[in-house]
Amino acid sequence: MIGSGVAGLTAALRARELGLHVLVVTKAAVSEGNTRWAQGGIAVVLEGEHEPGDSVGKHAADTVTAGAGLCDEDAVRSIIDGGPAAVARLRAEGARFDPAVEGHGELARTREGGHSAFRVIHAGGDATGAEVERTLVAKAGDRRIPVLEHHIAVDAIRTPAGEVVGVTVLDHNGVPGVVRAPAVLLASGGLGQLYQATSNPEIATGDGLALALRAGAQVADVEFVQFHPTVLFTPGARGRLPLVTEAVRGEGATLHDATGASVMRGVHPLGDLAPRDVVSAAITRRMTQAPGGIDDHVFLDATGISGFAKRFPTVYAACAAIGLDPAAEPIPVTPAAHFACGGVVTTVDGRSGVRGLYAAGEVARTGLHGANRLASNSLLEGLVAGRRAAEAVAADLATGRLADPRRGVLAPPAEVPVADRDALQRAMSRYAAIGRDAEGLSVVGSVLDLSVIESPLWTPRLVEDAALTLVAEALVAAAARRTESRGCHVRTDFPERDDNVWQRGQLIRLSPSGQ
Ligand code: SIN
Repeated sequence: MIGSGVAGLTAALRARELGLHVLVVTKAAVSEGNTRWAQGGIAVVLEGEHEPGDSVGKHAADTVTAGAGLCDEDAVRSIIDGGPAAVARLRAEGARFDPAVEGHGELARTREGGHSAFRVIHAGGDATGAEVERTLVAKAGDRRIPVLEHHIAVDAIRTPAGEVVGVTVLDHNGVPGVVRAPAVLLASGGLGQLYQATSNPEIATGDGLALALRAGAQVADVEFVQFHPTVLFTPGARGRLPLVTEAVRGEGATLHDATGASVMRGVHPLGDLAPRDVVSAAITRRMTQAPGGIDDHVFLDATGISGFAKRFPTVYAACAAIGLDPAAEPIPVTPAAHFACGGVVTTVDGRSGVRGLYAAGEVARTGLHGANRLASNSLLEGLVAGRRAAEAVAADLATGRLADPRRGVLAPPAEVPVADRDALQRAMSRYAAIGRDAEGLSVVGSVLDLSVIESPLWTPRLVEDAALTLVAEALVAAAARRTESRGCHVRTDFPERDDNVWQRGQLIRLSPSGQ
């Protein structure tokens, strides 16, 4: 397993249950992935524990609506159907979710953008990811699953026929190593670090996606990078910015500009709880058309939420750290890169098109998210697809579908393009975020051309920078080709959705020469 977030650890635990030998390779400490930062919760419709009239079918329908015409409806149904059992297993492993107030069922449920019902369960108020990660790390420890921390996966080891039979790795000092295995599962998370402002931690550099591309896998939907509508705005802040969970709006907070005018009124029937892509685009429009010139934030008024500090302790602490009391004054917020809706093309049980290579969680593109992920579907997908990927590996091993790792050929380190990270982040944020056009996307192309050097991947930093470079190239190419606006992909030069031409994903694969 490459990665130790919800998908990787769920897969590792299931693989161990099935009697497989497992090694988790993770590039930081085991609990340092993106999972622990997830706030809002897990969207799931639990038997006997839901709003009257809600159903798994309605959850699937909301997912498809949010996905703006690009979801694979079979994948949606399959993954959403798997949610209740996945959550039940996690609770059996010890995860504790917030209880409902007396007489309203067992678990508290909130609502987030795009959901037609209160179906998002949460833990620690707004620390759901931390509870999921705590549970899985503890179980992995109990079951003595070996974890190789502070090792970054560099490239797949392949047989002459192209099957994946392991990975090369570097430790944090750049000391190389080799891990041979008949199956490699990528659960390496997202790519938020392509942008200057992101809710993702430093480690989210698209490494798994780049490794998969270099291994010959197909990726799709990479142009759909979801911007979370509300991270805490602090002037000049860069890197991981604190999330202000959508559940704050789910519990009644509203978005306003500096003049006090509502951002969402008249934009969408769900108002402040419209799907995330709609809210982020509306905020961006409002900031660029502000009466006094361009604004860099709007305001989230949560002063009407009673007991804010108890219900949202993580958000409260982030606000307190900048001297702000959300119970008394509006929170300055801005959109930031949050989630890659696309990724390595896989089945709902994690099989990629390359034998021996599997992917689950944010790095994978199962078809669940389409052009815009529904809020709180990502932890759910990690739980469901992580488990199924382990089962797929076990089945493929049992049927002799996987290659013998001894047939893997270790290639000499190749030179690959590596761009300057700061220049790339600046260009991506300016020209390939919300609101793109052909001219701006070609500027990113020029920045890539000008700042790239060719280098072997000697250090973890070079591996990350090469991944960001390759993923940026794929993203910009797909964004330039998609001459329409859909979901998270907003083209200012093609503002309309065009179902006649574009109701399909774009598959990207590197040619054997690496181009
Ligand atoms: C949030 O709490 O708003 C983020 C949850 C998610 O990304 O699904």
